[in-house]
Amino acid sequence: MRNPINKIKRTWMSYPMWEGVLQFKDSFYRNLINRDVKDLHLKLIDQLNSQKNNWERFVYCNGYFYQGYEKIGISGIKPTQKRMKNYDINEYLNKNMAVLDIGSNNGFLALDISDKVKKVTGIEYNEYLNKIGNETKNYLGIDNVNFITEDFKTYQTEEKYDAILSLSNHSTVDKGLDTSFESFVLKIYNQLNSGGYLFFESHDLIKIDKDMNEKFQTAQKYFDPIKYKMVKKFYPPDVDKLFIVLKKRDDLNENPERIFDINEAKNKYSY
Ligand SMILES: C[S@@+](CC[C@H](N)C(=O)[O-])C[C@H]1O[C@@H](n2cnc3c(N)ncnc32)[C@H](O)[C@@H]1O
Repeated sequence: MRNPINKIKRTWMSYPMWEGVLQFKDSFYRNLINRDVKDLHLKLIDQLNSQKNNWERFVYCNGYFYQGYEKIGISGIKPTQKRMKNYDINEYLNKNMAVLDIGSNNGFLALDISDKVKKVTGIEYNEYLNKIGNETKNYLGIDNVNFITEDFKTYQTEEKYDAILSLSNHSTVDKGLDTSFESFVLKIYNQLNSGGYLFFESHDLIKIDKDMNEKFQTAQKYFDPIKYKMVKKFYPPDVDKLFIVLKKRDDLNENPERIFDINEAKNKYSY
């Protein structure tokens, strides 16, 4: 007959049991360390849920995060830090600059560039997305970013900016920006300081921006293109986009010679 003491010993010393104890200890410490970020996630998810229940326009990504932010463990369909690295916007930014981000969504991009510039304004008409931006801003202790809940079409300010971001925003599927391309570009032009930059990301070049040649022709009246390339999608429902760096012209050019061809651009993945 087996010795019952040995049986107890065997059970107590068995690997799965200690593994369980270690796992418990590990998750205990992990929870302790990450409690703040977990609280943040819960607050952000609350806002996504409020958006889903109350926002009457189109809800991006079916209510999931459109922009992600690796720094706080939110993936999203567009991970902000990877995106910033790929677009190399940072090389144009400096500590004297005031930046405007049009359609700032969760505000993660605005927050991510905040340590490179003097201040950032994110304009986003969806209040739930701005609340996500503000919760994250407080969590990260950032004090030079301001999210304003306004419609860019009617936005009026005396303020001028040194750089403006229009990333997938010159027209939007939620129909929030349905003005002509020229009036959109002109509004940006008027809000930029002399020599200011426009960072522009297109939609897909097959459907929505199939007229990119014409759009480029229009943009070149007001801006000199510095460089452009295609940028890869992060997840399959999205598609590769065109990313362009433009600089405000000193004088308008009514008949610019277009330096862009959509068919050539579709295959250009580096500057
Ligand atoms: C396609 S998303 C792009 C978000 C962001 N620019 C990016 O690339 O990560 C468009 C965003 O613009 C916002 N939006 C649409 N129309 C707007 C308007 N008229 N004024 C302000 N924000 C607007 C939407 O709520 C949404 O967050």
